[in-house]
Parts: sequence; C-alpha cells; structure tokens
Amino acid sequence: MKTILQMIEDELRPAFAACGYDEDLAKAVISNRPDLCEYQCNGAMAGAKRYHKAPIMIAQEVAEKIAGCPAFSKVDAVKPGFLNLTLSPEFVSGYLTQVAADERLGVDPIGAGKTMVLDYGGPNVAKPLHVGHLRAAIIGESLKRLYRYTGHTVLADIHLGDWGLQMGLIIEETHRRHPELPYFQADYSGEYPAEAPFTISDLEEIYPTASARSKEDAEFAAAAHDATVRLQQGDPGYTALFAHILRISVADLKKNYGKLNVSFDLWYGESDAQKYIPVMLERLKERNLLHESQGAMVVDVQQDTDTKEIPPCIIQKSDGASLYATTDLATLWQREQDFHPDGVLYVVDKRQDMHFTQVFRVSRLAGIIRPETSLTFLGFGTMNGRDGKPFKTREGGVMRLEHLIADIDQAVYERIMENRTVSAEEAQKIAQIVGLAALKYGDLSNQATKNYVFDVDRFISFEGNTGPYLLYTIVRIKSILRKYAETTGQAPASALRPAGDDSEKDLQLVLARVNEAITGSCLDIAPHRLCQYLYEVANAFNSFYHDHRILAEEDAERQQGWIALLSLVQKVMETGIDLLGFEAPEQM
Ligand code: ARG
Repeated sequence: MKTILQMIEDELRPAFAACGYDEDLAKAVISNRPDLCEYQCNGAMAGAKRYHKAPIMIAQEVAEKIAGCPAFSKVDAVKPGFLNLTLSPEFVSGYLTQVAADERLGVDPIGAGKTMVLDYGGPNVAKPLHVGHLRAAIIGESLKRLYRYTGHTVLADIHLGDWGLQMGLIIEETHRRHPELPYFQADYSGEYPAEAPFTISDLEEIYPTASARSKEDAEFAAAAHDATVRLQQGDPGYTALFAHILRISVADLKKNYGKLNVSFDLWYGESDAQKYIPVMLERLKERNLLHESQGAMVVDVQQDTDTKEIPPCIIQKSDGASLYATTDLATLWQREQDFHPDGVLYVVDKRQDMHFTQVFRVSRLAGIIRPETSLTFLGFGTMNGRDGKPFKTREGGVMRLEHLIADIDQAVYERIMENRTVSAEEAQKIAQIVGLAALKYGDLSNQATKNYVFDVDRFISFEGNTGPYLLYTIVRIKSILRKYAETTGQAPASALRPAGDDSEKDLQLVLARVNEAITGSCLDIAPHRLCQYLYEVANAFNSFYHDHRILAEEDAERQQGWIALLSLVQKVMETGIDLLGFEAPEQM
C-alpha cells in the first residue's frame, strides 16, 4: 500500500505536469513548521534554476492547480517558494480506514523472495550470559522481527562461541577432578556415558575456577591448551565430553533467551564451521591471497582508499591453529552454501569493527559470498552504569543477565505494589512483562551504535519516553475498548471518521505514517526509529484522550468513529512493540 507521502505526491504530480514542470519536482515531506502546515513540497525551489523562474511563481501556479483537490483542505504558496499543505480530514480518515483494513498496516512486503541471515547471539558456551550479550540479543531480535514483517525470509543464527580455549579449560579441569572418567582413558573403546558428569551450575563454577588456575599454574595452562588442540583434532573422549558441555549449555541458554523473548532458528556454533575451513583455505590459495608473515598465514586487506591502517587478516597461526576470523569466514562459506542469502547482518559489539572489516574484505576478495550479497556489521555501543563506565555489579564484577532482569522486575514490582490495585501474585506476573519492556525499550530507544546509560529508575518510569509508558497507554486503550464493548455490546466499527478537532487530527496524522515508520526502521536497520514513532503515537493518543470523553459521548456515530480510531491505535502500538520484542499486559 502507498504511504501517505506517496498519496500526496500522486496529487501533486499532475499539478506540476499541468503547469509544464517536471513531475519529479512533486516531492512531499513532512512539515518542519507544524504550526503552519502538515506537509510541504519544496519542488518549486528545486525547479527555479531549471526553469529560470522565481520559485514563488512556480509554487503559486501549482497551488492554484491543486486548490480544489479534495485531498487538501488548505494549500499555500509561501515565500521564497514553499508549498504548504494541510490535508483534508476526509482524505486522512479515508487513508486510515484502508490502513486499518490491511493486515500488515499498509506495509509492503519489500523483502519478498529475499533471504537474510542474522547473526546476533554470540554467547560463549559454559559461560553465563552477561550484559554484554544483552544488546546483541535485544537489537537482533527486533531486527529479525522487522525483517520478517517486511516479508523477508530470515534465518537467525546464534553462532555460539564453542570452539576456544574455554573448552580445553573445562575439559582439563574435569580431568583434574575426575581422572577416572572414561573420557580420559586413551584405550577406552566402549560407549561413553549418556549422562554428563556435571550440571549447569557445576559448569558455571568449573570455568572460572579453571580460568583462574590457568593464570597461576603454567602446567595446567599448557594441559588446557593441549586439550583444546586434541578436541579440535577429534579425540573421541573429548568430543563426547564436549557434546555434554554443549547440550547442557544450550538448554540453559534457551531458557535464558526465552526469558528475554529472544529466539533463534539456528543453533550453530563456531565448532560447526570447522569442517568448511579446508575448502575455504583452498579458495584463498587458488586466488593467491594467502602469504606468510612472521610464520602466520595472512591475507592483505588494505585498500588504496583507506585513510587508516587495516592490518592483514590472520588466517592461520604458525602452529596451524585457526582463529576467530578463520571461523567467521568458514561460517560465511557454510551460509552461502546452505542458504544463498541476499544479506548477512551481524549485530555485535562495535569494538569488533576491525575484525568484521577484515572478514568482509577477505570474503569479497575470495568470492566466499556472491558479490550481490550484502554484508553488514551493526556494531553496538556499550551499556554503561550511571557513572558512565561499563555496567558492573555493586561489587564491581560483571553483571549476569539473569540478575539484571531480576533487579528490574523487582523494581517494577515495587512500583506496582505502591498502588496496591492487584494481588501480589498478579503484580509479579505483570512486573515480568513490564520489566522486560523497560529493559528492551531502554536499550532500543537509543541509536544502536551509541553507548547508553542503564538507568533502572528512568527505564521503569510510567511517564516519559519509556517502555512502561507505551504499555500504560495500550492498557488504557484496552480498558476503554473493553468498557465500550460491555456497555454497548458492540464490536468496534472499522471505518474511521474525519477528525473533528486538532488533537484528533494530530493523532490521525501520526497513525497515517505507520507503514513508513516500520519500513524505514527496517531499511535503516534502526529500531530506535520505531521507538521514536511509537512514542509519538502514545503522546498523540494521550492528548486526544485528555481532550475527549470517549465513553460518555452521546453522539453514537461520533463515538463509533473514536472507537475505530482507538482500535487502530491499539493495533499500531501492539504491532510496534511486538516488532521491538515485548508485549503489553491486560492491566498494570
Ligand atoms: N562469541 C563472540 C564474543 O562473545 C561474539 C560472536 C559474534 N558473531 C560472530 N559471527 N563473530 O565476543
């Protein structure tokens, strides 16, 4: 469906043409002077040079042509040559009635036939999730939903960090504690136990212990390194132990991501990419890209146009071990082979910028993905504490994600209990829903690339630009619609009525931008744009609500129009927060 801007341009184009000007001048934009008009066209300014005419003359001619057009209630040509446009209430409500009837709120399936791979997990197996993984999960999940809504086929891949030294550390620590286990017997030929020798809480203790030990005990560190190499070479006992670690960690990760309302289609890990390394290396050799540098095999990726140094990408260390970049390249190989994606998008900490620059360049040089496939790195900023430094626990340690979530839920719970309108049990449930919204919106409402300050008190506030404010607005609407249905026994009408006053018109105008807002957030890879839009909708609705006594309205027709309007606000806001990855409770 067309956007409201396109609808306006459809009206402007014939007017420009009829006056003898090029139709491409008929560009409409939202007004930057909302006190004067709703939309404007600056085409006369652009046309002045082309037609050697004063812009105001062009604007006046066009204004005269469209004066009688039913789309506009007011058209002004103002100096130096702007066309100020005010839409007619009928035009806006007619457009919104179409939007309300469209199951995708007028959003075109621009991604039909396109496949996107989204890489936004990156948790490290056997290590608990921490706040650093929070942003990837929150932003990535929202982008996945935006891409799907706009018709793309999306494959969300968690890309587990399961192939590094941490595996060797866990294996070696287990070895130290239980040398009698069959995984460590060289001559063992039976089946390995189906039951793991540790639980998730054991694992969470084993890893930090082993990591600390390796720093003090050189022999242990060497043994862990050996264990990593042996695992990578396919040692059967270690492989069996690795499978246990993976299974237990993945079950725990699924639970934790589930609490965040985040899910993945593919649970591949770095380990799954290993089998593609040989073919990938073969390609690098075929194209003469690999050369030796200080014993390592590297690919040069510096380009003439670079303004700073981009170091060579190291593919293989002198001992033959592969690196983070090697794995990412092999993963791209696998993705190309399995999915033929039109785009691959990585949502990772922006401090990994150089890594992705190198990986993307090598994959282009080697033709690992097709030239037309886009490779995008959305590097996000750090979540800081109120002191402006990376967020830590009160004791100064790394905050675990589940503790962070529990803290927010508790704060929301206390706020809800202040009003004491619901039972404690009910308040707990609501707090979880609202807490998640507070957390996610607090993150998503910032431009992803920027650092932001994690401020629980601000995030959980029911007022201002927050998640709970949006939820509160939705809850208010639901309550009005419920009461309307109870008292009248009627389902909401679907046709909107022309706005009767300013706050109703303002609300309708904001709603009329919904498809553009959703499509734009997706194309710009910018969930914060959608946040900003939903905040505008909530504000416009609350002003409207303040000015109108909806349930007490005696003119039934007018009331029906308002109810249809509210239903649309609800649909827009519920769709919007779903695209951000959270939902609204029934009451709060
Ligand atoms: N596991 C990595 C880390 O914790 C993040 C992985 C990001 N994704 C990727 N394809 N490199 O830093």
